[in-house]
Amino acid sequence: MTIDLAALPQDFLWGTATSAYQIEGAVAEDGRSPSIWDTFSRTPGAIDNGDMGDVACDHYHRWREDIDLMRQLGTNAYRLSIAWPRVVPGGDGPVNAKGLAFYDELIDGLLAAGITPSVTLYHWDLPQVLQDRGGWPERETAEHFAAYASIVAERLGDRVRHWTTLNEPSCSAWIGHLEGKMAPGLTDLTAAVRASYHLLLGHGLAAQAIRAAAPDAEIGIVNNLSTVHAATDRPEDEAAARRHDGHVNRWWLDPVHGRGFPADMQEVYGVELPERPGDLETIAAPLDWLGLNYYFPAAIADDPNGPAPRARSVRRLGVPRTGMDWEIDANGIETLLLRLTHDYGARKLYVTENGSAYPDVVRPDGTVDDPERQDYLVQHLAACASAARKGAPLAGYFAWSLLDNFEWAYGYDKRFGLVHVDYRTQRRTIKGSGHRYAEIVRGHRGVRRRAA
Ligand code: IFM
Repeated sequence: MTIDLAALPQDFLWGTATSAYQIEGAVAEDGRSPSIWDTFSRTPGAIDNGDMGDVACDHYHRWREDIDLMRQLGTNAYRLSIAWPRVVPGGDGPVNAKGLAFYDELIDGLLAAGITPSVTLYHWDLPQVLQDRGGWPERETAEHFAAYASIVAERLGDRVRHWTTLNEPSCSAWIGHLEGKMAPGLTDLTAAVRASYHLLLGHGLAAQAIRAAAPDAEIGIVNNLSTVHAATDRPEDEAAARRHDGHVNRWWLDPVHGRGFPADMQEVYGVELPERPGDLETIAAPLDWLGLNYYFPAAIADDPNGPAPRARSVRRLGVPRTGMDWEIDANGIETLLLRLTHDYGARKLYVTENGSAYPDVVRPDGTVDDPERQDYLVQHLAACASAARKGAPLAGYFAWSLLDNFEWAYGYDKRFGLVHVDYRTQRRTIKGSGHRYAEIVRGHRGVRRRAA
């Protein structure tokens, strides 16, 4: 399969992505306070193998080595997240100078290596102290988030241009508050809907705060979206597919585009939104770009007695799957990029995450070959280039992930990295997919040179 690299712009960002809790470790160092993930991962039975992020990839101490890996991959961008509990351990109030200094140095290190940092302010690690005061179901969490965003943007905004407010707020709200499979582990529809509302309010408030602190900032939000199909042509399944689309896609896209919260879904949830005058305008604060995290499509059937949105995913037989048991469908990434372009008028798009987990093995010669991940990467990049060729304003692609890391409730068994991590020794080994990615990046540089 070939990738139409000439369809991608000259200044395309070729990146890798990670998040703080998944890689940093050092959870009790230099003044960091516990996050809801420190608490959740200590809940018996919550995480496979009882794994937790205490050490993870030890990136807090090994970040220089990790930048060197990015250099070896030839990438020109890196998407990282800042740990709120490192910077403002109390959730609000005093800043932890050492926490902020860590990111300050990291950003300088990236820039010195010619790598553009793309900073996410919230990738799920809410300070536990704020959870103790009610967490995202409470409005004050959104306000504290904006204050924290302002602190970070004031410090890093002279060097960082790319800012993301929230990563995948649907996971925080739905998986964390409705399904109970992620922190804070609740199964409460009212809490989930209120959390979804305050996450988006926090996004809008944070976008304003970043703009005020760093006028040149390019600000976006990152959603994990799915293509949704009805499992059969039964009208009930088609209605369920529409509800699922509302739940995972429209609920998150419509409000930030000034369309308010979808009325059909408000009816499905039946929970009053904690709306105050002016909130919808705040949530729809102008953005510079949209981030798409894409992993899998969804085939949906009606689930009349199930929890909201009364829709269940159907396992289709004979379809290729990754080690997460997620269906592989590269066309989905193209469809979604074009949907964001045409239905939501996106002016700039980034694929902020895309990748696959497989049970990699280190061969006796020390190498890690991962042909399935390479295929996944190439297929999805080809679909991205095809979307760009058809007019999607795609400005960058961030492979998930730079490193194998703490895959939330799945612990360390699910490996998404382009770089293998031996958690016993912290030895890093670039996998076949990492070398393949480097080749593709070089290929794009060649196309650019020939075009110049
Ligand atoms: O590891 C996660 C990441 O934190 C958010 N997006 C999906 C990835 C794979 O599950």
